[in-house]
Amino acid sequence: MLIDGARRQSIWPDPEGEGVFILDQTLLPHAVATVLLRDLADAARAIKDMQVRGAPLIGVTAAFGLALALRADSSDAGMAKAAEVLRATRPTAVNLAWALARMTEFLQQMPDELRRDAAFAFARHLAEKDIACNEAIGDHGLALIRAAAEKRNGAPVRILTHCNAGWLATVDWGTATAPIYKAQAAGVPLHVFVDETRPRNQGASLTAFELGQQRVPHTLIVDNAGGHLMQRGEIDLAIVGADRIAANGDVCNKIGTYLKALAARDCGLPFYVAAPVSTLDPALAEGGLIPIEERAQEEVTIMPGLAANGEVVAVRIAPKDTPARNPGFDVTPARLVSGIITEKGVFEASKEALAGLA
Ligand code: MRU
Repeated sequence: MLIDGARRQSIWPDPEGEGVFILDQTLLPHAVATVLLRDLADAARAIKDMQVRGAPLIGVTAAFGLALALRADSSDAGMAKAAEVLRATRPTAVNLAWALARMTEFLQQMPDELRRDAAFAFARHLAEKDIACNEAIGDHGLALIRAAAEKRNGAPVRILTHCNAGWLATVDWGTATAPIYKAQAAGVPLHVFVDETRPRNQGASLTAFELGQQRVPHTLIVDNAGGHLMQRGEIDLAIVGADRIAANGDVCNKIGTYLKALAARDCGLPFYVAAPVSTLDPALAEGGLIPIEERAQEEVTIMPGLAANGEVVAVRIAPKDTPARNPGFDVTPARLVSGIITEKGVFEASKEALAGLA
């Protein structure tokens, strides 16, 4: 997708072979900066500190991180240790473990001395596969947006999204945003309502940024406004991403997703989840078993932003020492999900429909 009119991806290998480049998402939207990841520690830190984030991008970064680690030690023990370091960075998005498992399965079959180059090639393959999956999600989701457009008689289709399940959360296209970008390219009029997504504000800082760069009409709303707009008939459908989907179709996504799904059900609106099949976790029977990341209290009590003098500053918004709780994700029960848009088609959120997909 575009930044300042130029095609960009969220991660790409350094053509000089020094490592892997990422966009530092902690600086967006105020600065567009690239960072070179040179080794395992760099990759692990980038995931943990959320310079890269979003389930599919975390997975691809981990794959490149393993490839970087194998430059130092390509033995079975070295590979297992590096995978462990990467797996421990963030607990909820299953794409991280998925990508490491694919890498390890592939590399274990070959002698140590061939692993270094093969690991990079396979990580590149996973990155390209991510792009292709998301584009296919876009095509399947476009049909749903077209169906909504028919009821709007030429007026824009109004779509609510939560957090950033955009191209910045993947290698390109995004998951929830892929159908939006496809609809825009197809000339379907639309308007996206973007939840700010407290506490880290990925909607305000990332989704609003990428939709703006892509010239998709959009409006930023506070997290609590979505239900109100739905009740007033100002939203036609919701599309969100996912960090892990249990075997029964329960969907784990950024905190606050559940409340939007409840409001959508109450208002009789479709609530879609867009995710590649690598986000399915058939090993977990239901969403209650998904590990939920608990993040720092300071993310709730202190907010960063751009000051009038152009400097990024952090301001405290609660009394000093106020205790805070910060679960990063929640689980939306399958019964509230209208459909899961994957690269293989749109599926009912149920054990039967999802069986055998992953
Ligand atoms: O904590 P983050 O920013 O990694 O959380 C990201 C989300 O919850 C996304 O909505 C989800 O990963 C889907 S990514 C296509």
